[in-house]
This record gives sequence, structure tokens and C-alpha cells, in this order.
Amino acid sequence: MKRLLTAGCVGLTLAWASVSGLATETAAAPNKGAPGGLQETTSTVLDGVFTAAQARRGRRVYTENCEACHGPELKGGELAPSLAGSDFIVFWTELPVGALFERIKVSMPEDGPGRLTDEEYTDVVAYLLEANDYPAGEEELPVDKTALDAIMIVAAE
Ligand code: HEC
Repeated sequence: MKRLLTAGCVGLTLAWASVSGLATETAAAPNKGAPGGLQETTSTVLDGVFTAAQARRGRRVYTENCEACHGPELKGGELAPSLAGSDFIVFWTELPVGALFERIKVSMPEDGPGRLTDEEYTDVVAYLLEANDYPAGEEELPVDKTALDAIMIVAAE
């Protein structure tokens, strides 16, 4: 709940408001926020949950569909917020990767939400994780919302 209040304060737009409903469902799961609230998840983004090859594919998706607004270094600008660095991570910490996937899928690219395939959305999430200094591993991020919901975003160490 605290997390959602914080999210509200970040002053996001209507597009976000519709998506935060999804995040609410997830965040309202039992145990969320309780000590040991990670127990429903099987892993975190520190565990190497995407591959380097997948992040490379995601980088291509990013360059073609996201970079015009979010910038070549993911630092954002006048058109869009930053997708790398502490603001971004603080915002998403303790939410599942599935929520980030869904958020992007329903609202991005802003000029044509939902126009990419689930594979492309998953790959671009892998690229965002890599760009935020999370480690690559042996297994690709699954193209499966339920499986993505079992991976928690935590602060990089
Ligand atoms: C036409 C410009 C534009 C394009 C293209 C675009 N975005 Fe965005 N994006 C925005 C704007 C504006 C916001 C802030 C408003 C909002 O939250 O919807 C945003 C917000 C976001 C957020 C939320 C940021 C946060 O702090 O939580 C994510 C994640 C995101 N975009 C990812 C993407 C990805 C991935 C792509 C490519 C598939 C993409 N965007 C393409 C304009 C764009």
C-alpha cells in the first residue's frame, strides 16, 4: 500500500492510472509488504533472469520503438521519463517483472500501445533490466505473464 501511495505521488498521467489498477491487484496479494513478503516469488532480478542475447534483441526493439522518446541512453527527456537509474528502479522496486511487462504492453510505445508482440515486449524488458545493471544469466525471461509475476524487481546491489 505504501508503495502505491508513493506511486500516486509521482504524478503520473491517466495512462498510468489505468495501468496502476493492474499493479494494485498484484500488490494486494497476501503477504505483500509483510516481513518476508517475497515468499510468493521464486526469484528476483538479481538472479540472472534474462540472457545477454535476449537483451540484445530487446535493444533492437528499443531502438526502433522507444528511443525516439526515451532517448538513446534511456535517460528520457522532454518527451518521456528516464528508464534507467535510481528513479526508475525505486519506482519499480518490490513490484514483479510481470507488472512492468504489462505496464509497457498496455501503454507503450505511447504512439501505438500494444503494437509489438509479447516476445518483443519481453525482450525489451530484458534490455531495460540489463540497462539498469542487473546481471544476465542462462535462461531467457519467459514470454508468460504468470511466470514474469514470480520474478520480483529489487534494488540493484
Ligand atoms: C511517443 C513517445 C514514447 C514512445 C515511442 C515510448 N514511450 Fe514510454 N513513455 C512515454 C511517456 C510520455 C511516458 C510517461 C507517461 C506515462 O507514464 O504513460 C512514458 C512512460 C514509460 C514507462 C513508465 C516509466 C516509469 O517510470 O515507470 C515505461 C516503462 C516506458 N514508457 C517504456 C517504454 C518502452 C519500453 C517503449 C518502447 C516499446 C516506450 N516506452 C516508447 C513516451 C513514449
